[in-house]
Amino acid sequence: MGADHARVLAEEVPGAVVRVVCDAAADRARAVADAVGAADVEADGVAAIARADVDAVLVASPDPTHAPLTVAAVEAGKPVLCEKPLAPTAAEGRPVLEAEAKAGRRLVSLGFMRRFDPGYRAMKAALTEGRIGPAAMLHCLHRNVAAPPGFTGPMAITNSAPHEFDIARWLLDTDVAAISAFQPRLPTADGRAGGGPVAGPVVLVLETAAGPLVTVEVNTDAAYGYDVRGELVGRDGSVELAAPTDLRLNAGLSAATPFPADWRPRFAEAYRRQDIAWVRSIESGSPADGIASAWDGWQAARVAEAGVRALAEGRRVALDAEPPPALYA
Ligand SMILES: NC(=O)c1ccc[n+]([C@@H]2O[C@H](COP(=O)([O-])OP(=O)(O)OC[C@H]3O[C@@H](n4cnc5c(N)ncnc54)[C@H](O)[C@@H]3O)[C@@H](O)[C@H]2O)c1
Repeated sequence: MGADHARVLAEEVPGAVVRVVCDAAADRARAVADAVGAADVEADGVAAIARADVDAVLVASPDPTHAPLTVAAVEAGKPVLCEKPLAPTAAEGRPVLEAEAKAGRRLVSLGFMRRFDPGYRAMKAALTEGRIGPAAMLHCLHRNVAAPPGFTGPMAITNSAPHEFDIARWLLDTDVAAISAFQPRLPTADGRAGGGPVAGPVVLVLETAAGPLVTVEVNTDAAYGYDVRGELVGRDGSVELAAPTDLRLNAGLSAATPFPADWRPRFAEAYRRQDIAWVRSIESGSPADGIASAWDGWQAARVAEAGVRALAEGRRVALDAEPPPALYA
């Protein structure tokens, strides 16, 4: 993901220059730096953030490193675009809120790039323009070809589902009030019935403070392709995402629309628009319209944490209302 952001910033964002590429693996940093024409590489994130020739920071390292590196950027007074999630747990994300409160200004943007996807933007416009009446339900599907080794059901909730938590909050303009989590029982690899998956699909039901219900399927081992779907159902109609596609293949007595292998082609336009908006906001000094904040990241982390508990304990977990501090209101 970091390599893709580096390419977008270098090639598609006017005014942005990638100065330093940091990766704990030196060969990866060098390969990306060479590909985007960056002047230098670093192995240590905090050292990269502190450099005098670095004005702003994009964090796309593994999930548990997001909050510490984002705090380092805030303490250095540098704008930071942090990839989702803000943190695997709400407690790990809280220092980011505290650092911004101490700085007294918003320096953090969260990489919930779906807010910049033309499909989700059109869906939100259909709702706010009253074309489907008041929202009743949002149905979300998130499918990957195959999860990385060691990926678990709880990780599907803390790593993948935050996209859905955030898009639900953004589309419906409300917070999540309760979450329930379920997993189907599948045959084990050796064919025994009812073993239950390790990663497997996770199905979540979110109850929102404003009333609409949200269903989420996260299936990180869907095998057939990268597939994200969404349907917002209102009192008077519904609006569905139409996945962008370049072609339909007609052959062998059937018509087929190919799926991408991962998220990059599906959300290329969203990443591009998000990264452009982020850099423009640094120039203007005010947050980009619609970009997610540290507070949005923290809310998603709270919901994820409650979802993990709901799955482990097999029960509905309610979330207390947490009004945003003045910095984010
Ligand atoms: N917004 C999206 O749609 C989207 C899509 C994919 C991934 N992501 C997020 O991007 C992040 C990276 O995901 P990925 O798929 O590229 O993972 P990855 O494992 O392919 O890459 C992570 C890189 O970080 C490096 N690294 C590890 N620890 C580090 C540290 N402390 N400092 C600097 N570098 C370190 C690793 O060497 C590796 O090159 C994850 O947090 C993931 O949630 C977001």
